[in-house]
Amino acid sequence: MKKIIVIASVLISITVACKSKKAATSTASTASTDSSMDAQLTAVNTRFPNTTMEELKKGHSIYTGACTKCHGTKDVTVYTEPRLLEIVDVMAVKAKLTAEEKQSLIKFAVGVRATSK
Ligand code: HEC
Repeated sequence: MKKIIVIASVLISITVACKSKKAATSTASTASTDSSMDAQLTAVNTRFPNTTMEELKKGHSIYTGACTKCHGTKDVTVYTEPRLLEIVDVMAVKAKLTAEEKQSLIKFAVGVRATSK
């Protein structure tokens, strides 16, 4: 009986260790844990009603995918929003985003900004 408890607690601590390692590798600006995405979705919906989680996830994958072909992930929280939108206008062309992809990226960036402070 004692053995089972020991094995179970070892398994639990391994699981916990893996989870905390995963959390530590994601930075604030690129966080994509479910709870931060939930907060982002709530924030985005005050600006862009009816935004779906699917759209935010799409924006996130563009941000970590197409947007990193020429440079790393850029911190979207260091610019004023109008300046960021100007930059995205230029970068969306560079990344050859469709209008829909660009919109998802903008929503994702707005969500990250709104929940970063
Ligand atoms: C074809 C290459 C290319 C792609 C794709 C690209 N960028 Fe850039 N980006 C650049 C270059 C070149 C610069 C200027 C040099 C630098 O800051 O690294 C830049 C700069 C930036 C900056 C800093 C601008 C400033 O004035 O401080 C941001 C933010 C940015 N990119 C975001 C994005 C986002 C978001 C995407 C995806 C939509 C993207 N980039 C896709 C080439 C690219």
